[in-house]
Amino acid sequence: MAENESAIQSSLQEHRIFPPPSAFSAKAHVKSMDEYKRMWRESIDQPEEFFGRMAQDLHWFKKWDKVLDWKSPYAKWFVGGKLNVAYNCLDHQIDQGRGDKTAILWESEALDASGKPEVRKITYRALRDDVCRFANGLKKLGVKKGDRITIYMPMVPEAAVAMLACARIGAAHSVIFGGFSSQAISDRVEDAKSNLIITADGGVRRGGDVPLKENVDNALQTTSLVKKVIVLKRTGKPVKWVEGRDIWWSDVIAGQSADCPAEPMDAEDMLYVLYTSGSTGKPKGILHTTAGYLLSCQMTCKYVFDLRDEDLYWCSADIGWVTGHSYVVYGPLAAGTTTLMYEGAPNFPDFSRFWAIIERHKVNVFYTAPTAIRAFMRAGRELVDKHNLSSLRLLGTVGEPINPEAWMWYHQVIGHGKCPIVDTWWQTETGAIMITPLPGATPTKPGTATLPFFGIDAAVVDRTGKELPANQGGLLVIRKPWPSMLRGIFNDPDRYARQYWTDVPGMYFSGDGARRDEDGYFWIMGRVDDVINVSGHRLGTMEIESALVSHEYVAEAAVVGMPHDLKGQGIAAFVTLEAGRQPSENLKKELIAWVGKQIGSLAKPDQIRFTDSLPKTRSGKIMRRLLKELATSGEVKGDTTTLEDFSVLARLKEQDEK
Ligand code: WT7
Repeated sequence: MAENESAIQSSLQEHRIFPPPSAFSAKAHVKSMDEYKRMWRESIDQPEEFFGRMAQDLHWFKKWDKVLDWKSPYAKWFVGGKLNVAYNCLDHQIDQGRGDKTAILWESEALDASGKPEVRKITYRALRDDVCRFANGLKKLGVKKGDRITIYMPMVPEAAVAMLACARIGAAHSVIFGGFSSQAISDRVEDAKSNLIITADGGVRRGGDVPLKENVDNALQTTSLVKKVIVLKRTGKPVKWVEGRDIWWSDVIAGQSADCPAEPMDAEDMLYVLYTSGSTGKPKGILHTTAGYLLSCQMTCKYVFDLRDEDLYWCSADIGWVTGHSYVVYGPLAAGTTTLMYEGAPNFPDFSRFWAIIERHKVNVFYTAPTAIRAFMRAGRELVDKHNLSSLRLLGTVGEPINPEAWMWYHQVIGHGKCPIVDTWWQTETGAIMITPLPGATPTKPGTATLPFFGIDAAVVDRTGKELPANQGGLLVIRKPWPSMLRGIFNDPDRYARQYWTDVPGMYFSGDGARRDEDGYFWIMGRVDDVINVSGHRLGTMEIESALVSHEYVAEAAVVGMPHDLKGQGIAAFVTLEAGRQPSENLKKELIAWVGKQIGSLAKPDQIRFTDSLPKTRSGKIMRRLLKELATSGEVKGDTTTLEDFSVLARLKEQDEK
């Protein structure tokens, strides 16, 4: 991180304030700012008492000896405690009388002739039985505590069953987003040293098929680690079959008992690894453990989504992202909620699909991403207005800063002015929501995630860790450990301390820039490094660059984000060709398709620009900051003093104008 990047210019001005509706506050878990402030103060000053009390809502096989053991930057929460995440999400709920309550309500993408989807309602008891049968099946295949199981599944209830079954027997899962390609699968399988993959014959997306099994088959040509592939039948399309390696899901559970004792896990045993893009090409396996993670997920569901037993809750994220882990599966189930899972695309058959789902099932709490909201805005409010959304009482967003226009649209058109909006800031690394309004307490302002959640000591600082005055942009850090914080990077223990705890000594640096306003509200200003956030998905430029460079015509590539109306950020790639290769429109298309094949469609550049050289520092580092300016405004006004060869910029601009 360069010196001058801790100061960030702030241009957003927003003065509207929306106090929580009094009827909402009256019933909420936290009813006023005073109550929030009191609880937050206690959570910071006496974290052990506070979280020790909160953790009594969970089920423990053995109580902890000590709430927190902190040797910066390594935290252990609930030291000595034994519990099981799947037991908490299932058996513990059944014991509290929720056996016949729907745990997962699933809706297919496909609609029948009369316009109806297939709907499955799985009760807590039925889900426990399914999880136990599958868990017993996994054991029979030799899966043991501590193994890493790769899950590459469509959005069907069996994806949650697979995750919970791993948790039940103490195997860690590594879920790979179904939109990723073969290369992403083999990289992650290799890094996690995983020898079993759970997948499906295919997935359904926008009326088409996603060839999941075929992608796995291709991935397994470049890694020999995987010994078993479990295949769920979803589409019924024919698949290639490798005898001895491939096994149908139905055969895994055949004859298995619905009774599978939950493994008593240590509070700090690994629950899962989830790969996220870092700023280098190497996949970064974020490690989450058992007790602290579960507690933060459960607590945020209770306090941020203000969940009550009668609520129907829907988070539209895919299980391949951390939001799907924490807020489709673990959080809502640990809070005893009915969690809605939708199989497909937001625009199938058109952009009114989400509103049809909310109307059909009478969804009360809805959590989605700003990029989706912007797409809905563009599609027009007629698509919304033909649906009855009066069941909604709370709306949430996550993934990137929400621009005030989109916030106001969400508030007025979807929430009819009566639903509080919780704009929640967090990260794969933080495991759970960190900065957020509490809907019955916090007055909201469009565009800010407002104030820290319980136990979160967030601050905006400069590079030395000094807190900055109001409205000055700086680095968003967390100064104290919190229960769901990542515990490390899988397979790379040193990288954890280096990556998160050295930029600002002694503090967790999120990589985001932010400012606090005069009320102490946090306004997130985006990443200060070069990771690109496309449609709420964080993509490392290095991964895309290495994909480009792996094409035989490409010598060098630099990838930067640029503003994009729909996706938040689009991708611009500056490409230098091998000597003797000629730029052409066809080659641009070929390179875009190439990246799609290497990484996945999400990572496809929106723009390719050929250039004969890239701006670099003396030490050979590409100056992406300058390219970003060029891609955004066509001008470079920023600091160029570290640039090695000034003529490069002039040439780039020339090419830009052509
Ligand atoms: C990055 C984390 C957390 C689940 C989804 C993404 C950006 C996330 C907000 C928000 C402004 C946000 C940040 C963050 N981000 N939520 N409410 N306001 N920015 O997880 O892929 O780990 O990305 O997303 O830049 O660091 P992720």
